[in-house]
Amino acid sequence: MKPNTSAQFLYTDSQPAEQDILAEVLAGLRASQLSISPKYFYDERGSQLFEAITKLPEYYVTRTELSLFDEHLSDIAEVIGPDCCVIEYGSGSTLKIRRVLSALRPAAYVPVDISGDYLLEGAQRLAEDFAELDIFPICADFTQHLALPEALSSLSKVGFFPGSSIGNFEPEHAAEFMRRVNTTLGPEGLLLIGVDCKKDVKILEAAYDDSEGVTAQFNLNALSNLNLKLGANFRPDRFEHVARYNESLGCIQMFLRSSCYQEVTLGGHTIEIQEGQAIHTENSYKYFPEEFLALAAEAGFAPAQYWLDDQQHFGLYLLRVAPEAN
Ligand code: AVJ
Repeated sequence: MKPNTSAQFLYTDSQPAEQDILAEVLAGLRASQLSISPKYFYDERGSQLFEAITKLPEYYVTRTELSLFDEHLSDIAEVIGPDCCVIEYGSGSTLKIRRVLSALRPAAYVPVDISGDYLLEGAQRLAEDFAELDIFPICADFTQHLALPEALSSLSKVGFFPGSSIGNFEPEHAAEFMRRVNTTLGPEGLLLIGVDCKKDVKILEAAYDDSEGVTAQFNLNALSNLNLKLGANFRPDRFEHVARYNESLGCIQMFLRSSCYQEVTLGGHTIEIQEGQAIHTENSYKYFPEEFLALAAEAGFAPAQYWLDDQQHFGLYLLRVAPEAN
């Protein structure tokens, strides 16, 4: 057995530069449909608000996924086998990964998240509780190419992408992202991914517009985050939270609707926003299992196994990197 003291802990900071963030945010606010990327929800406060969302009665997503873990993680561990390296895309709260680490007992864990402080804090607490685990936190935008530390090259790779975060991508970008994950994982790789199902619109809309208004605060926090990050002067009190299901796209869409005419300055540029004009902040695509498996196949993954809860609200998929056909 490996003594505690030999476990490695190596932090890599590949956070995007501030001028890149400014350019990206400005481009979104100058388009005809104003938009802010959902990745700007997750500063420290946003990550805390999201954690509060996961405990709301209307937000069935996290609860249902956790019950699928409880039921199937020991079977999953058997398929995966010992001594792998788990790479988590967007690591946020450590609740789910704790269960996964306990069941899989991997040799190494690579949490990747854009919120550096939250990432480090979580990783350090994990290091205390999983003393033998090598941990390599990477602060990065996980939608971009990911370079893994050299030390991991000999371990088999298991990607972990829970919570239906894949739903934030447009379907074609989801396939591109999963193609990059496929390359990172390599020939023997496996991907454990949680994906929310299409279902009754009333259930979906309640989950994204809860009665306590936590999701509204979460949505508005993107503006406060940009104020801090870019020295912008958004007035969150002049925007309203909107969440509705778009039937033709198959996704929940969130917006921040301006309650008056206003001007916002960021990085020396002024953006005019009309009364009633809405900034798009998030799409959350929902997939029937056959739809998601088709998308996974496009990205070179074949299903090993997948599980739904009794109400068919949520799917947990264990995918294998498929041998290339050609
Ligand atoms: C973290 C992207 C999975 O889409 O359900 C929750 C984010 N937004 N409530 C989701 C979210 C509003 C969440 N994901």
